[in-house]
Amino acid sequence: MLTLTSAAEITAVSKEAHRASKCVGFVPTMGALHQGHLSLVRTARTQSDVVIASVFVNPKQFGPNEDFTKYPRNAEKDAAMLAAEKTDYLFLPSVEEMYPPGATSWVSEEALSEKLDGRSRPGHFRGVTTVVAKLFNIVQPDLAFFGQKDAAQVAIVKKMVCDLNFDVRIVVCPIVRESDGLAMSSRNAYLNPEQRKQALVLYRSLMRLQMLVDRGETRSTTLLAAGKQVIAEEPTVKLDYLEIVNPETLDQADEIGQGALIAVAAYVGSTRLIDNIVVHGTAAGKTSPRQ
Ligand code: PAJ
Repeated sequence: MLTLTSAAEITAVSKEAHRASKCVGFVPTMGALHQGHLSLVRTARTQSDVVIASVFVNPKQFGPNEDFTKYPRNAEKDAAMLAAEKTDYLFLPSVEEMYPPGATSWVSEEALSEKLDGRSRPGHFRGVTTVVAKLFNIVQPDLAFFGQKDAAQVAIVKKMVCDLNFDVRIVVCPIVRESDGLAMSSRNAYLNPEQRKQALVLYRSLMRLQMLVDRGETRSTTLLAAGKQVIAEEPTVKLDYLEIVNPETLDQADEIGQGALIAVAAYVGSTRLIDNIVVHGTAAGKTSPRQ
């Protein structure tokens, strides 16, 4: 694996691959890699000739009181993990490389970005769409791999790609979980052992809802009340949102229809965690989980 820090060099690599009719797969990350990230790289490896991963902790998607400075960084370990998965190139730019002084342009999606995480993290998705658009322009991938873990991000990136005619196909990969169900996240590293146990309540609430949906419950108000009751079992965990929405528009859904996203965000101590499931109703009221 070759590590490149210059945008121009990565663009040259991608252009060369395209000249040789090779398919370029891209996995954007903020590092502190875990098996969730690596599952994207593995999928990219099976679908692409050239795999490019990026590690860049993007300052523009962190709010002023968020964890940009303390976000875990370990470039050497990340590079070793990516190399072990046969990544071809690691793009590891500096903040100055991505945002040269004087840059005043942004890419913003203006409807979905105000929902779910966007409501509690104003400006977050503008930072995400700006950096993802820049990375797409730099890497020029044919395929880009994103995790269902960040369901709102998936919907917004897909919307941006469609609205702005980016020539890239978004491939969504399932959530990778710890053996007890906790969704893997770089932010899990912030949790002390007690909080690590409390954090499981997010998954427990989703599993309760899954069970109720499987038994035929379709009304969002009933489901959300039951989910909030589960969250309340851990009084130290502060719910940010629990919502049932259309997975594409992120609009709230009154009923579980042909596919609804059940998304949760909560603070465990000062750590904000998110998780979700996608449920599909059928005529008989039976559903099957999709992630
Ligand atoms: P980051 O949080 O590092 O995540 C990088 C990618 O890994 C995202 O697509 C995310 O959904 C996926 N991912 C994280 N945890 C996962 C899990 N447990 N299972 C499956 N996939 C998982 O998301 C970002 O970085 C940034 O916003 C980024 C897109 C890189 C733009 O800065």
